[in-house]
Amino acid sequence: MPKTKSLLITGGAGFIGSHLCIHLVEKYPDYHVVNLDKLTYAGNLENLKPIENCQNYTFVKGDITDAETIRRLFEKYDFSGVFHLAAESHVDRSIESPNEFAMTNVLGTLNLLNAARVQWGEKTEGKMFYHISTDEVYGSLGDTGLFREDTPYDPRSPYSASKASSDHFVRAYYHTYGLPVVISNCSNNYGPLQFPEKLIPLVINNILQKRELPVYGDGKNVRDWLYVSDHISAMDLIFHKGKAGETYNIGGDNEMQNIELVRNLCDITDELLGREKGFARSLITFVKDRPGHDRRYAIDAGKIKKTLGWAPATSATEGLRSTVNWYLNNQDWLNRVTSGAYKKYYEKFYGS
Ligand code: NAD
Ligand code: TYD
Repeated sequence: MPKTKSLLITGGAGFIGSHLCIHLVEKYPDYHVVNLDKLTYAGNLENLKPIENCQNYTFVKGDITDAETIRRLFEKYDFSGVFHLAAESHVDRSIESPNEFAMTNVLGTLNLLNAARVQWGEKTEGKMFYHISTDEVYGSLGDTGLFREDTPYDPRSPYSASKASSDHFVRAYYHTYGLPVVISNCSNNYGPLQFPEKLIPLVINNILQKRELPVYGDGKNVRDWLYVSDHISAMDLIFHKGKAGETYNIGGDNEMQNIELVRNLCDITDELLGREKGFARSLITFVKDRPGHDRRYAIDAGKIKKTLGWAPATSATEGLRSTVNWYLNNQDWLNRVTSGAYKKYYEKFYGS
């Protein structure tokens, strides 16, 4: 089949990126999807098994901080679109190693912007550079209020500072060079294939292992949770229908305190494992708070709903249940990703 678009996905072996690659490869057989990923601890080619032999899919192992690799890739594949997801993405790791976050998230983004600018030149018709960002750039909310697209940036962790910086560069390339860019800032994703350093898979894995469930501080920090396939449907719409130069906030209208979420996961997991009710809750342990821990994130997703007709399709009840189910049915996957490097990291942060 002749290819109508050549797309670069960065970070396509990570949690969200692998769902996106599978979606694009299966839905658009006339697109050629090139997945560029460094395969850090968070990248896992096993996630891409369903498409690894598809003729419209190519995996390239490479680092976005390497400008020459990026330049050659643009030259070889003549991309008309970019979905840029590659990033160091875990707040706790950013507190330990901020420089790595600046390198990948800021410098890596600049390398991609430069390569797109050189390759596309004045011929920007039909081209789009889509930068995938986070709601964390807006900082921390009190008990009320929502992040809107015009909320001033106020990042507080090295992770969110690096994402905020990359967002600014992406906008600067639109204004200064006329590069067609679009940005989305999304709330916390959850679902299958998420690396178990993030709260939801970490809790499910620890319940399975009968290990303590570490809840930071008083457990009353609030996050807005979005099922990953709803993020993918938003990204598909933004890439195809979004307007260059615009930003879209994406959220699940699904705010939960961490402790409420953890208790919910405990009850679902006990039920699905046939364990006595209350067993998993007894593993909950309040631990030292994360430094600079943002209190509350909440999104006003009115713009994408109104202008692009997007809405999340998965309720929290449905999404959390199917997520727990997936991890319980994929314990081999969990065991493989929690061995090796992850184990060392876990021991360093949590002690055992
Ligand atoms: P992830 O950590 O699961 O995956 C990141 C991927 O990027 C990995 O496959 C990793 O190998 C790759 N990568 C890291 N450094 C690289 C480099 N230098 N060169 C090439 N590849 C590199 O992250 P995720 O949760 O899938 O998030 C993807 C994107 O979405 C990130 O940009 C993140 O900021 C953004 N985001 C995530 C969430 C969330 O809740 N997970 C929410 C909003 C936005
Ligand atoms: P996380 O999944 O790391 O996402 P983010 O920090 O990007 O929002 O954490 C979600 C929330 O859960 C956050 O408020 C921190 C908290 N948390 C814990 O209480 N215990 C944990 O072990 C982890 C990883 C997170």
